[in-house]
Amino acid sequence: MKIFVLNGPNLNMLGIREPDVYGKGTYEELCAEIRAYAEAQGIELEIYQSNYEGELVEIIHKAYYGKADGIVINPAAYTHTSIALLDAVKSVNIPTVEVHISDVSAREAFRQQSYIRAACVATVAGKGFDGYIEAMQILENKAKE
Ligand code: DQA
Repeated sequence: MKIFVLNGPNLNMLGIREPDVYGKGTYEELCAEIRAYAEAQGIELEIYQSNYEGELVEIIHKAYYGKADGIVINPAAYTHTSIALLDAVKSVNIPTVEVHISDVSAREAFRQQSYIRAACVATVAGKGFDGYIEAMQILENKAKE
């Protein structure tokens, strides 16, 4: 099974950025956790982070051409603004799970809207870095169906 993990803007700043909201773990530590789980499960993994909307769109296309079986995406602030990312996920028809480190449902009103959610098989929010592992498990279970 092949999974693409995508992280949107400012997630490269994990550990530095608002640790009270996102925790003290760094982006490198997040990647290491995801890689360790994937390796244990025999999942082929590609991890990306970009601060640019168009680049995230292109990585979603890359998942299609690279024959990914699933996508885990934390679109970060683009969750709340990007129809381009919604359309990209719809274009590739690959099971996709939306992840948020924080519990967006308990935050500001502008974080209540998620455009990408309409194209996702599930949303995991408020579980910290573990949410990425849960998202991969959801995709593994989907693949077995
Ligand atoms: C986030 C939540 C978003 O509202 C925010 O813009 C982020 C991170 C999260 O992981 O909790 O950058 O997606």
